[in-house]
Amino acid sequence: MWISFAGIITNYKDVKQFLVQKGHKFRSDTDTEIIAKLIKHIHGLHPNYSFRELVEQVIQQLEGAFALCFKSMHFPGEVVATRRGSPLLVGIKTKTKLATDHIPILYSKDVFEFGGRALSTRDREHSKLKDHRPHGHEIPAHGLARSQSTSEFLPQGDNKEVEYFFASDASAIIEHTDRVIYLLDDDVASVEKEGVLKIHRLKRTLEDTHAREITTLKMEIQQIMKGNFSSFMQKEIFEQPESVVTTMRGRINFDSETVVLGGIKDYIGEIRRCRRLLLIACGTSYNSAIATRQLLEELTELPVMVDLASDFLDRNTPIFRDDVCFFISQSGETADTLMALRYCKQRGALIVGITNTVGSSICRESHCGVHINAGPEIGVASTKAYTSQIISLVMFALMVSEDRISAQPRRSEIIQGLRNLPDQIKEVLELDSKIQEISKKVFEKKSLLVLGRGYNYATCLEGALKIKEITYMHSEGILAGELKHGPLALVDKGMPIIMICTRDNVFVKCMNALQQVTAREGRPILICHKNDQEPQKYGSSVLEVPKTVDCLQGILTVIPLQLVSYHVAVLKGCNVDCPRNLAKSVTVE
Ligand code: G6P
Repeated sequence: MWISFAGIITNYKDVKQFLVQKGHKFRSDTDTEIIAKLIKHIHGLHPNYSFRELVEQVIQQLEGAFALCFKSMHFPGEVVATRRGSPLLVGIKTKTKLATDHIPILYSKDVFEFGGRALSTRDREHSKLKDHRPHGHEIPAHGLARSQSTSEFLPQGDNKEVEYFFASDASAIIEHTDRVIYLLDDDVASVEKEGVLKIHRLKRTLEDTHAREITTLKMEIQQIMKGNFSSFMQKEIFEQPESVVTTMRGRINFDSETVVLGGIKDYIGEIRRCRRLLLIACGTSYNSAIATRQLLEELTELPVMVDLASDFLDRNTPIFRDDVCFFISQSGETADTLMALRYCKQRGALIVGITNTVGSSICRESHCGVHINAGPEIGVASTKAYTSQIISLVMFALMVSEDRISAQPRRSEIIQGLRNLPDQIKEVLELDSKIQEISKKVFEKKSLLVLGRGYNYATCLEGALKIKEITYMHSEGILAGELKHGPLALVDKGMPIIMICTRDNVFVKCMNALQQVTAREGRPILICHKNDQEPQKYGSSVLEVPKTVDCLQGILTVIPLQLVSYHVAVLKGCNVDCPRNLAKSVTVE
């Protein structure tokens, strides 16, 4: 048995105990092994079951979030794949065009013994892992006979050659094909001997569409190649002058100063009438919510709550029908964010998804949303998605405030700021070699504090997160206003500090914090505006960034920190793209 598995099986101990009682021996303590042993066990009980039927039996016993792909020497030439809670897609490569752009779902006739419930401690005593289903009987979707539906899904013409690829993410297969089917939870896709793909479900539900569409990806191969860069993260940092443009493309008219986000324009009236906005996310995506909260409050005049998805769920937060809930996620698959989405959806709130992955779970389950269009992000540490998330939320604020005459000068200033952003990002990226030199001074230190306030507070959090993620160095983003309430005790001449001090409405307060730091012999590395002499005299080194509108400044101040984390990681010999203990898509709670 060959299994490719992503995710987590939460009841694996129960299943393992059951299998041990049945005489199975285990070589490891992994949840993957229980899947292999379970399918073996069921095959022993039901030697006549097809490969797909065995997998259907297996997944009914499993709890958790997973994407699975099975191959077996007992079923040569066959593959069965399924998902629940973790992403999975099927890539299809053919020499000629396909006869159809969708594949119908086949439903199994009866519900199995466990009725869709997975094996847990409660069930263990009663279950015998048997089913009494008269197998082989299926009811076709929409009256399509089984033979009809499968023969439809074949390449046209004489050359019937077809290849299938199973992957969690489209970027893994784009070099082979751009035609994919996104599987839904509990779909069981099987490729049988004759090379025909079938998708089965155990039960028909009201929401089910009874077919899965074949989508054509718009991704270019070059987008997922490293090119001349040493890592994807470095490439993605340097892509930002272009990725911010693709985020804005077709949405902002810089001359008429109008913004149209096609994915939410039909909901804008409802949004304007809502009680409050909630922004819910994890990690970097959460930081993009912090970065834009102030502008959203200003331009929408609505209360704005920002929450980490895990904490939001822990609190059982009250949600109302007239709430508008934003779920921000690069991958669109983060389990905590997705569960928070479902929680809010059940309570009748309007769900807005902000994601970078077309077809992801968050995209599909939202009422409306914005694709940030940053292009595939491969490095685990998010960089270009962060800046594109900020721009997407800024565009949202601009669109909602379009009818407010008093907000026009502000809107106009921001739109012109967005226009100049790509060139300013290029300017910031020119600091790269200077940042590399600065990184040499800090890479052997134990800790790095990042201080700022106002719009730059999010930069502090995001900069510190980047440093933690890929350099394994302790780093903390500190709100400069909180300095005297604790963090000041950490400051001395040996503590590495980066301070962000740009000319905005909190500049004077920032200068104050800067003086407090230097009075304790702190020698901060400063990120400030070009040619701004006043803060520069307090810095041990200075990184000068161009000035933009306050609410966009965080995009220009975060890039030096992305580069610091990158260079420190390289100097420390860390794996920049795949930091230890972390994953790009966290599809488990
Ligand atoms: C993981 C990644 C982080 C990311 C977070 C949220 O923890 O390592 O880099 O920010 O998930 O991911 P999302 O795809 O929801 O933005």
